[in-house]
Amino acid sequence: MATPTSTPTTLDEWKAAYGLAGERDVPFTTLSAEPVKPLYTAQDRAGKDDEAGLGLPGQYPFTRGVYPSMYRTRLWTMRQFAGFGTAEETNERFRYLLDHGQTGLSTAFDMPSLMGHDSDSPLSLGEVGREGVAVDTVDDMQTLFQGINLGDVSVSMTINAPAAIMLAYYVVAAERQAGGAITPDKLNGTIQADILKEYIAQKEWCFPIDPAMRLLGDMIEYSTQNMPRWNSVSVSGYHIREAGATAAQELAFTLKDGLTYVEQAIDRGLDVDDFAPRLSFFFNAQIDFFEEIAKYRAARRIWARELRETYGAKNPKSWLMRFHTQTAGVSLTAQQPLNNITRTAIEALAGVLGGTQSLHTNSYDEALALPTEDAVRIALRTQQIIAHETGVTNTIDPLGGSYFVESLTDRMEEMAYEYFAKIDELGGMVEAVKRNYPQREIADASFDLQVEIEAQKRIVVGVNRYTEGDDGDTPILKVDPALERKQVDRLQGVRARRDSGAVEAALIRLKDLAAQDDANLMPPIIEAARVHATEGEMIEALQDVFGKYTEAPVF
Ligand code: 3HC
Repeated sequence: MATPTSTPTTLDEWKAAYGLAGERDVPFTTLSAEPVKPLYTAQDRAGKDDEAGLGLPGQYPFTRGVYPSMYRTRLWTMRQFAGFGTAEETNERFRYLLDHGQTGLSTAFDMPSLMGHDSDSPLSLGEVGREGVAVDTVDDMQTLFQGINLGDVSVSMTINAPAAIMLAYYVVAAERQAGGAITPDKLNGTIQADILKEYIAQKEWCFPIDPAMRLLGDMIEYSTQNMPRWNSVSVSGYHIREAGATAAQELAFTLKDGLTYVEQAIDRGLDVDDFAPRLSFFFNAQIDFFEEIAKYRAARRIWARELRETYGAKNPKSWLMRFHTQTAGVSLTAQQPLNNITRTAIEALAGVLGGTQSLHTNSYDEALALPTEDAVRIALRTQQIIAHETGVTNTIDPLGGSYFVESLTDRMEEMAYEYFAKIDELGGMVEAVKRNYPQREIADASFDLQVEIEAQKRIVVGVNRYTEGDDGDTPILKVDPALERKQVDRLQGVRARRDSGAVEAALIRLKDLAAQDDANLMPPIIEAARVHATEGEMIEALQDVFGKYTEAPVF
């Protein structure tokens, strides 16, 4: 190692003095292929961290956090995504999680519910209750939250194309919980409902894009007017990233989706300060630690600036980019699954150091199956260890001011705006999605990363290196196939008991109003929920008017 004759003060002098010969032969890039310098110094921050850049937590542009006191006042919500079997099994899992210290609920629906099919549809065979909880009617929603006071706990529901129907079931189930005392204005929670990311990444749609956007607008309008504590949409980057996007693509496409919803709501005549405070976000926490932290910090600053400067929001609550984080499912490996506990811990720490408001930590067995109770408890304990043992919540935004983190935050912001410009050239996000632009970008990024992994340029421990040894048999949660029969019997029982004339009338009214572009469909959907119309019946009624969607594949 050379010994410099004078103390180097710049990177070039440092390089000249010490030389960098013999660097390891690795890419030295982030997971998203962003080059990383060997050293960041004050030179990288010269004249940058002024008020408009860094600022203070709880102050515009919120780079350092949405709340002034952040975790000094309140830890993030520990909110494990959960659901399987029928409403009874998931109700039990909800209670298990609450008993083990979880502070918010997050509902995972099964595939038939996500796709708008009733459990007794031929399309649902073998899928009922398998990847989430089966919910066909308002009765299932009531069972799902039996014994859990919906006026007290904040509940998230991960549902998109049929979101309006599940929101209606939730409103009616709450109303029925305490003899009408829990009115919609008391409900605190979030529904995902972010339909654009379905066409971009998750692919769980029921309708063509334009009517789906109208339905989301109806929900935003309804909850803005009736549910002041309800987050009307959780604009999601999680699935965009899981589909293979880079961090910058996740950041840009997610925020652009959110800004598109803002524009649509304003076009409907809503005041931005009425609905924007209840827009929320959902991001991935991938394994590249610093890139994730920079992504969240850039997201807060971009959202604050766009809402205040571009959309004229005056209420500071409109400027807040409040978000939920889930650790990266795609980073979990089936090989040596216990390693996933480490990956999830690091990803969760990135979410916390990035200032998340709510967090789900994946279970180590989720590359193999839905999590067992033991696995989900370890995942929750991971959050509790970060919260109570590591000291990282003692001060706000501890990485703030870091030469590297602030440089990477600036770079993420810069890349996001480059994507915004491309999307605007295409005529906005709806048009870009119809032209498969984000889909193609994600496919290319996903391919490039896989090439790096196959070439062993990017190491995945246990998969393409360090593969010796294994963890033995991993206990796997098996969803009892008999639950499908139980759910189908329950659904057919509801159909047999209900007033079929009332259901028929409610569905006809829903179709009539769906044909009127300016009618808000939440009220007729709530009325149909009240008379026990099923999700599938309502989806089919709406498809009679809206039609169905077929994706043009991207090659
Ligand atoms: N100082 C002052 N007040 C504070 C505070 C502080 N430091 N910290 C929190 N608070 C207040 C907040 O202002 C809020 O008050 P309010 O209720 O009056 O608004 C209250 O405490 C709760 O705080 P948050 O709202 O920040 O936290 P929540 O957990 O309630 O909400 C959220 C977080 C991100 C805004 C919300 O939208 C949320 O919970 N989202 C969760 C979404 C989710 O779980 N998604 C899962 C999807 S799973 C999926 O899709 C993946 C699968 O498909 C594979």
